[in-house]
Amino acid sequence: MPTTNFDVAEKYEYLNGFGSYHESEAIPGALPVGQNSPQNPAYGLYVEKFSGTAFTAPRKENQQSWLHRILPAAAHEPFEKSEKQLPGHSDRGIAQFEQIPNQLRWDPFDIASGTDFLSGLELISGAGNPATKTGLGIYVYAASQSMEKNQAFYSADGDFLIVTQQGALDIQTELGKLLVRTNEIAVIPRGVRFRVDLVDGSGDARGYILELFQGHFQLPDLGPIGSNCLANTRDFQAPMAFYEDDQSRWRVTAKFGGQLFDARQNHSPFDVVAWHGNYYPYKYDLGRFNTIGSISFDHPDPSIFTVLTAPSPVVGTAVADFVIFPPRWLVAEGTFRPPWYHRNTMSEFMGLISGSYDAKVGGKGGFQPGGASLHNVMGAHGPDANSYEKATKAELAPQKVGDGAMAFMFESSLMLGVTDWSLKKCQKVQDLYNEHSWGELKRRFSPLSK
Ligand SMILES: [Fe+2]
Repeated sequence: MPTTNFDVAEKYEYLNGFGSYHESEAIPGALPVGQNSPQNPAYGLYVEKFSGTAFTAPRKENQQSWLHRILPAAAHEPFEKSEKQLPGHSDRGIAQFEQIPNQLRWDPFDIASGTDFLSGLELISGAGNPATKTGLGIYVYAASQSMEKNQAFYSADGDFLIVTQQGALDIQTELGKLLVRTNEIAVIPRGVRFRVDLVDGSGDARGYILELFQGHFQLPDLGPIGSNCLANTRDFQAPMAFYEDDQSRWRVTAKFGGQLFDARQNHSPFDVVAWHGNYYPYKYDLGRFNTIGSISFDHPDPSIFTVLTAPSPVVGTAVADFVIFPPRWLVAEGTFRPPWYHRNTMSEFMGLISGSYDAKVGGKGGFQPGGASLHNVMGAHGPDANSYEKATKAELAPQKVGDGAMAFMFESSLMLGVTDWSLKKCQKVQDLYNEHSWGELKRRFSPLSK
């Protein structure tokens, strides 16, 4: 059985299906029949078209929603630069990255007291530029409290793929509410206003974010696998319309070109009474992933673990893949079962949600839940010395690996830079990661043996 949250009572109801055209009304009759923009919308609502792709994008890629709301999003005062800016960026919002070829590994990231989802965001890595809609940013969030009352946030720069590592997030979005627990992910598309509250009793929250500056995530093609397995379409969940009729003072914080701006308004941005379309936030329980693997011999490429992919214009090459390593059975015979040693033209940023990862037994810092590692373009890596020894001696009986564990990878075709914070200020980079992982590999070569 999958390790999921689906047996835990849910707080909200959802619309099921990835990339589906959905509609939802918090008040029956709020959506017009047979048209998008009537002269006088029901209940005195305003109609707002919300585009996630160019108007002229091909039909199969076109993403948009129609929001029927109390006041349009345009009803706000001018934006002003926020007092506090995102770490890791210049005064003009340009991400400041160092490009280094070393393998990097971080201890679990700290959760400072008094931080929330937004103020506790730290830029770790990335590539490209949101102004030209190219590349991505990788962040860790660490929050000990809910976002400030009456504050909402949106990113004009990209889609947020949020991977929760600890603590549940109660995410209120313009299109409705998502409860995102450990082992679940959420995608908040570019422009969607949202706020993040911590859930009582679930403790501090920590996790990872991939902000995708270009395109949107989609399900990977399955090719010869057929029409099922991996992340199944029906398991993605979109929120139901939810609104509040609130005329108090609100602050909307925008991430725009790497800088933060605040605008005030005298109404809640969460006033969408009904919506229809295919541009919406969604969540997914990683425990529902139907994992496949080798049933004969040899270790397949990790692309079989792809949950979501954001393709680049080069066919088969992703700006970002979101890949997971769930609990699974290893049954391959006569083979070295863990991942092989390799060098990759892609960059591999990994995080650990829970448990331990089968290619790293750890040691001296190790790969721990809430930590991370980065193996950049052509960065040589593979099992550490202990894992290698164990795997060469293992009896190749069917074996369950990763019980209670979930590791993930953000894999990108781009060379990922790292920020000063992630390299130095944090002081959490494991200086000896390389030495402790591969410096202890023994020579095994003997021309006389076979
Ligand atoms: Fe790798």
